Parts: sequence; C-alpha cells; structure tokens
Amino acid sequence: MLSTDSSLQNLQNTGQRYIPQISSLEEPPSPNQELLPLTARVNEDDNLEIGGCELKLLVEQYGSPLYVLDEFTLRTACRQYRDSFATYYSGESQVIYASKAWSCMAVCRIVDSEGIGFDVVSGGELYTTLKAGVSTDKIYFHGNNKSVPELEFAVETGCTIMIDNWLELKTLAEIASKQSEKPVSVMVRLTPGIECHTHEYIRTGHLDSKFGFDPNQLDEVFTYLAGQTSLNCIGLHAHIGSQIFERQPHQDLAEVLVEWLKKAQEYGLPVTTLNVGGGLGIRYTESDDPPSISEWVKAVSDAVESACNRASLPLPKLIAEPGRSLVGTACVTAYTVGSRKEIPEFRTYIAVDGGMSDNPRPITYQSVYRAVIANRMSAPLTEKVTVAGKHCESGDVVIKDASLPTTESGDILVVMDTGAYNYSMASNYNRIGRPAAVVVYEGEANLIIERETYQNLVERDRTPERLVNKEEQEE
Ligand code: LLP
Repeated sequence: MLSTDSSLQNLQNTGQRYIPQISSLEEPPSPNQELLPLTARVNEDDNLEIGGCELKLLVEQYGSPLYVLDEFTLRTACRQYRDSFATYYSGESQVIYASKAWSCMAVCRIVDSEGIGFDVVSGGELYTTLKAGVSTDKIYFHGNNKSVPELEFAVETGCTIMIDNWLELKTLAEIASKQSEKPVSVMVRLTPGIECHTHEYIRTGHLDSKFGFDPNQLDEVFTYLAGQTSLNCIGLHAHIGSQIFERQPHQDLAEVLVEWLKKAQEYGLPVTTLNVGGGLGIRYTESDDPPSISEWVKAVSDAVESACNRASLPLPKLIAEPGRSLVGTACVTAYTVGSRKEIPEFRTYIAVDGGMSDNPRPITYQSVYRAVIANRMSAPLTEKVTVAGKHCESGDVVIKDASLPTTESGDILVVMDTGAYNYSMASNYNRIGRPAAVVVYEGEANLIIERETYQNLVERDRTPERLVNKEEQEE
C-alpha cells in the first residue's frame, strides 16, 4: 500500500511516496497493489535500490535505458497465485504464465522454478520456453491463427493446444492423425460474451472478438471433436481481457464455463479442465485499485465451486493464466535524462534516452505511468513536466505531467511497473537498439538480455549485389 503513516507525511511529496511499506518480506503484500517492486528502498545516499542494487550504479554498469527485474517480486507473485489456489480451491489447480507479457529465458526459468506453467502464443514463445527447460506437460499453445508449421511444432513437442477456430481444428486433426501416435491434447477456446471495463484493444471476452469460437458454434464443435480419435479434448478456455479491476466478470465467466463444461460432457468429451484466462490488473497509478492476487483467486475459485455444485459436476482442474499481475510490478525501466525544453505558459519537456521503442504502451493505449528520480529520492516534487521519448514522433511521450523534483541532465529517471508488455512489445523504431535487461536479487545483478548493438541492427539486412557499387565490390 502507499504510505499514509503520519511520520511519513513529509516524504509524501517526494519520490519516497512510492516505496512499499512492508514490515517483513516474510509476509509480502500482493505485488500488483504496489507501484514499485517489493524490495525497493532508499539508501543512505538517497538513491533508489531494488533487489539490493542501486539503480544509478546499474545504469553506470549496464547503460540506459535498462529494464531492471526484481526476482523477489516476481517469485512472490508466482507463490501468491499458487498458494492461493491451494488455499481456496478444493480441486486440482495449475497457474500458467501468459508469457506474451515478457518472454525471455531467464523469466521463464524463474517462473518455471516456482511450479508455474506457460501459455505461449507463437512458435517463438514455445521455442523460448523449451530452451529454458520447461516440460511440455505444463505448456499451453494459444493463438487465433497458428500456422501449419506452428501446429506441427506444437504436436511434435506434446504440449496442449488451445483450439481457436474451425480451420485450426480441422488442420490439427489432420496433422495429429499423421504425425502423432497418441491423441493430441486440446482445449476449446470460446468467446463467453462477457463485457468488462478495460481498453477496447485489450478486451477479448465480448462476442465481437477475433478470438475463440462463438457460443452458437459449440454444439457443432463438440460433435466434431467427439468423432475425432486423433484429438483428445480435455477442457475449455476463455479469457475476457486484461488490466481488469472488477471481480464480477471473472465470476460470471466461471458460471458460463461450467455450463459449457457440462454440455461438453454430455457429448461424451473427456473434459475435466477449465481455464479461466488471466486479466487481473495492476496498480500503475495511485488511483488504480486492483484486488490482491489472493482476493482474485478466491473470487474465481468460489465462483467455479458454487457453479459446479449447482450443476452437480465434480470440480474440474482449474487453470488461470495471468501475465501482467505476475511480472508487471517486478520490473522498472531506468532512463537517463537528457535535453530540456521549456515552453513558457505551455509546458516543460524533459527528454529521456528511450521511449516508445522500449515502452509502446503510452502511445498505443494512452497508458499512464509514474516515475521517480532515482538519484534524489527525497527531493521534493516541485515540477510538473512531460517526459518525452527520443523518437521522431510527437506522440512519443512516456509520461504527461509527471510530478518530479527539478531534474538535470544526467539524472536517472525510473519508470515503474514496466515488466508486462514492454520488452515483449519493444521495437527498433528509428533503428534504436532494444535495451538490456538485468535481474536483481539480494545485491547481485545479472544480465538477462543484452543491449542490441548497431551491428545487431544491420546483421540480418541483405544487400542485392546490383545495389553495391563496383569499387566496393572490388574491395
Ligand atoms: N490469456 C490469454 C488468452 C490472453 O490473451 C492474455 C493476454 C492473457 C492470458 C494474460 O492477460 P493478463 O493477465 O496479462 O492481463 N499488450 C496489452 C495487453 C494484451 C493482453 C493480451 N492477452 C497491454 O500492454 O496492455
């Protein structure tokens, strides 16, 4: 929670206001309700530390922009999901990480070591999890237009495939009968017709959605699956959207899914698993008020249990697939402040050395972030400035009207809550290399993603010979 204690009042107008107030790391709060990672603290030199590492020193060592991932916060979120399901759900459960939020080998390894499975949505994400040593019985392959090579790859690995549409269902049945000795495990994704309050680009549960089968097609789908020996339909899936603070839509979803589960069983399908998707929101600003991980898990578990009781169904294996609420709060992005432009009576811009190429969320979804000056955490917040990125695009603004101390070029500006959908949506716009990422834990920092170099930017370019002039060819 944000600090409210009166002894801390004088820090309220400084960057310290965002430091989590934690009495003991033994009983950590829900990461998605904090703004900074759980290990964030301010050291004697008034510098921000995360995972025991000073941000300013990390930037000196690894450069900026830099993604800094706090292992403790990520592990805590994994444990809270896992333990809450064990506490609140009487049946079997499995939490899987929606790796589209941030797919890289180190993140996969940390999440895997906490007993969490994986949702992958492309051959690339599947490949990354396999390279990280994840066992395929914990991998679920999503996507609304998986290619034939992706389906073949998925069948070869033995992961569970989430069927999204008719073309995929028929193609997969064919691949499975040719390629696989035993039936391929599949789940059916449906569009439940549930509205929720989030940005329209990240809503998926309403009927007008590109994902999943429309409910009126399900009878036909179940009939088809019941006649397929190459496919084994183990359950149903739906996902209603992302960055959701209400609990009701997920409770409604549980009801809808249980009804369809009963129907699928009536068709003789061996369905024993329900996947309720992800979607729990995180706090990006003081006014965001998401439920905690355990509150969300309890709401979903209770809803599934009572719907099953009413339908006289045994409890299915319950799967949830959060992305943002596992990794979002665990990471911050450190930038170096550069130029400043004051436009009297309009606004002051300060520019940082990254922007929409490392965090496309503000320009894509008008997402709002908070930042601190990591090398002056107790300085009063005296300025309202707009933090601009360095890309050739007026809309490349990281934060509009940020409250900051008076900044100077060379200051380290740290944007919070950048773990989800930042690195994974990063680009090379303007031929800017994607940043490095480090994981921090108990005072140690390790590089987990190298910074892209100029050489990396051109290494896959090919120049047809006719475009190379003679003198160069002779060299
Ligand atoms: N399962 C499915 C099938 C999904 O499509 C998603 C997210 C998740 C789980 C995980 O949802 P989460 O727990 O992270 O809310 N790029 C957007 C978010 C797109 C979400 C896509 N699907 C953003 O930056 O807000």
